[in-house]
This record gives sequence, structure tokens and C-alpha cells, in this order.
Amino acid sequence: MQIIVETKAYAGLETEALVSYVFEEADPIQGKLAEMDQAIGGLLKKLNKSGEMAGKTLEMTLIHAPAGLKAGRLLLVGAGKHEKFDSATLRKISGAALRSLKARGVHNFVFVVRENDATEDFAQAVVEGLIAADFEADKYKTDKKNDKSIDSVVLAGYSDAQRGAAEKGLARGRIIGESQSFARDLINEPSNKLTPRILAEKAEAMAKQAGLAVEILDEKKIAELKMGALLSVSQGGPEPPRVIVVTYTPSSPKAGAPVIGLVGKAVTFDTGGISIKPADGMEKMKYDMAGGATMLGVMRALAALKPNVKVICVVPATENMPGGTAQKPGDIQTAMSGKTIEVLNTDAEGRLILADGVHYAKQLGATHLVDAATLTGAIVVALASINVGVFSGADQTWTDKLLASAKAVGEKMWQLPMDEEYREFIKGTVADIQNIGSGKGGGSITGAWFIREFAGDTPWVHLDIAGTAWNDDAKAWLAKGPTGVALRTLVHLAMSY
Ligand code: BES
Ligand code: ZN
Ligand code: ZN
Repeated sequence: MQIIVETKAYAGLETEALVSYVFEEADPIQGKLAEMDQAIGGLLKKLNKSGEMAGKTLEMTLIHAPAGLKAGRLLLVGAGKHEKFDSATLRKISGAALRSLKARGVHNFVFVVRENDATEDFAQAVVEGLIAADFEADKYKTDKKNDKSIDSVVLAGYSDAQRGAAEKGLARGRIIGESQSFARDLINEPSNKLTPRILAEKAEAMAKQAGLAVEILDEKKIAELKMGALLSVSQGGPEPPRVIVVTYTPSSPKAGAPVIGLVGKAVTFDTGGISIKPADGMEKMKYDMAGGATMLGVMRALAALKPNVKVICVVPATENMPGGTAQKPGDIQTAMSGKTIEVLNTDAEGRLILADGVHYAKQLGATHLVDAATLTGAIVVALASINVGVFSGADQTWTDKLLASAKAVGEKMWQLPMDEEYREFIKGTVADIQNIGSGKGGGSITGAWFIREFAGDTPWVHLDIAGTAWNDDAKAWLAKGPTGVALRTLVHLAMSY
């Protein structure tokens, strides 16, 4: 999809559709909408008066062959209350416009930002919205009879003086949008097409193309490093594990900046192991590598955006299979850190592989950690698919910084408590710790505490994305399937140095 900035008057642009947005307010036909209204003979005012175009969030008003405009259609998307309007809403508006026009067989359109919105940040949000909305999870469909695609979008509403800002926003939005699509594409892959080895190959290819340092640890190296927790998960099936390490080193690191360690869970399929999962819905466990894919997507974006901070990404990758060699409930494993773990439930495997991933990231020099993982079903109970679950180590400042980034990019995240009392739930009886809680409830918190045992005193945030990494129902601005959640937050976090 080509996206360009155009500073010529939008009324004269030849396009299949002209798109803008309308606020829910007393007299919404102002500024650019007033100009359009005049061109088409007062129809917008009439539609608003009749209540048909009230400006409610994502309400669509489509006018065919608008007289006085060169466009084939005029689409106005509701933007909700003006005082609540922000880049997150604009991202959804551009996305919903794209999906609605694509469904109608439109191939190109002009998106006009409103009079106060011709800024770099808003241009970025529009482009992120467009690229995210254009992603379809239909890669393996062979009967794509319809040629429904958006080939080009023109961003308009900018003066010549605003062109530079618009183009900067466009470039950044494209990098982030395409990196998110890279992650979503990986997440969408079924486990027969994406084994740990294939994920490692794809990560290596991406890193080489982006100019990032990359190292793939194979099963031999993993054994040498004594990553016993990761190995205990991979021993249940024939596919060997991999640990993917991708590093971004800035040319001029900011003095005093941390070394950020991003650790992502990549279980390419989670059967549960011997503690096997029920058949119903098990197919969804192909997305149990979303944390790892997201971290790789972040690295892809950072390679192009070049923050002044070093970032080390560690992705432990494995299947969780119930074969004859699988670990069994009650087995005791020794993690790379030397801690012993009683594996009471083989389905709580994410925390096992993250234990070694987090320890290794520290060993490589990370001073501040973030992990992302589809860790617990319990987070879906707590927060549904609306918020990412956030869990903090002792350093709340680091967590606050991440939460500020999440807010800035419009990703919903919610912090849960990490009282010491919950830590008691995973105290071991026969080993140092056990991989599930012995108390009742608090499953997401005990999962987080398990990982925290390996982060130690290093500032650390855990993101439980089990509820948010996969969209069960299509949204107006996003297809059903992988979301790539947390990528924009982590890119923003690294870019804040
Ligand atoms: N991969 C699952 C968590 C999950 C659940 C991801 C739903 C996406 C959607 C994880 O490995 C798991 O099985 N967790 C167990 C932990 C339990 C055994 C303590 C769970 O949540 O049931
Ligand atoms: Zn599991
Ligand atoms: Zn899992």
C-alpha cells in the first residue's frame, strides 16, 4: 500500500473516495467540513440536523458522487466528543475508514486531517491505523476471488509548511505499522509452519536485513549454558528449542541510559504437555509465541528508528509437547540461574522458559527488563481482552515509564498487585520454587512472581498479553486474529531515551 502526503487542495483531487471525520458536538460542520459542505450544497448540515450524521465514534456516513468534489465518494467517520479526541481515536478512524472502503471494493482514497490535526504525531497515528487495518489473516486462503485491496492512500489537509512534519510522521508510522504487521504475521502462522527453528530463521533474516546483530543458540549451546528450565519444556517433543538473541547498539548511546532487555515467550505450540489442555480451543495455542514475535517486531522497528539506547532481545522458543520423553508433574528442574523448580503443572511452561530467558538477558548486560508473554488464562478472567496485565518488580519508576509509553500510544494496560503474600504461593516444598501457586486464585500474579524470582533486583516489568494478543472478533479497525499488542508501547519506551 502506497501512502503519500499531498498539500494540494483536496477538493480537486481525483480519488475513489475522500475521507474525513466529524465530531459529536453542537455545530460540527466547521472548518474543512464547512468547505466540503459548501461544495456539495449543504448536505452535511442537513445530515447532521436530521441526526443521521451525529459524529458518534466510528459512525460511518457515505455519500456517493458528491457534487462539487472530484471524488467518487465522500466518507465521514464519527470521531466522538471533541474534548476526548486523541491520536488513539484517530488511529481507529483511519483504520475503520480503510476497512469499510476496502470491503466496498475501493482501491484508493484521500484521507483529510481536520484543521487542528495537521501534526507529525497525528500523521503517524493515521498511518499506523491504516497499516494495522490493512492486515488480513488470510495468507493461506487460495480462493481469494475478490481483488479487494487498497493500493494507495493520500494524506491531505496539510499546508506546504506542514509537509515536512506530515512526512516525518508518515515515515515513522510506516516503520511501526510494518513492524507490527511483521509480528502479526508470525503470530498468525500455525505451528506446522512455524517451529522454533523456523522462527529463529525468520528472526535471523529480519535482523540481517535490518542491520541488527543476531545470534541463534541451538539445543547444544542451550545445554552448554545449562538452561534447564527451557530444556525441560522442549524435551516433550522432537523439535529442538532455540534461543534467539537480537541486539541493537546505538551509535551514540545516551549517557546514563539503561541497557534494555526485552524477553519474549515463544512457545510455538502449547499442548499443555502431560498436563494436557482440553481439545476445545486448543488450536489457538499457536499464538503462544506472541510475546516473542512482538519483541522481534520491536527490534525491527528500532533498527530503523535508531533510539539512543542499547536494546537486547532474548526469545526462548520451544514447543510444549506431551511425548514419551516429556517432563512429568513433580519433576524437579534446575534453571540456568541454579534455582531448582518443582514442575507441578507442565502447562505452566511459559514461566519456565522465561526464567532462563530473563537470566540470560541479565547475563548479556541488560540493566532494565521487560518481558511479554501469553502467560495465563487467569489474565483473561481479570481483564478480558481489553487491558494488558502489567506486573512490576520493586522498581515502580521503570514500570511507570512503561505505563506512560502505553498511555502515549493508546495501548490499554493495567497494573496488578505484587504483594509479598502472593510470593508465598510459589515457595517450594521439595525444591526452591514450584511453577504453580498452592493457594487459590491469583494465577496471573503467581505467574509473574515466578518470573520475578529470576529478574531479582533488576528493574523488571512483566506484560501478560494472553487476553490481548489475539482478537477473537473482528473490529471495525482491525481484522480478527493477531493484534501485535505492546509493540507500539515498547518502541515508544526505547525512543524516549
Ligand atoms: N499459554 C497458556 C496461557 C494462555 C491461555 C494463553 C489462554 C492464551 C490464552 C499458558 O502456558 C498456560 O497454559 N497457563 C496455565 C497456567 C496454569 C497451569 C497455572 C493457565 O493459564 O491455565
Ligand atoms: Zn501452558
Ligand atoms: Zn503457554
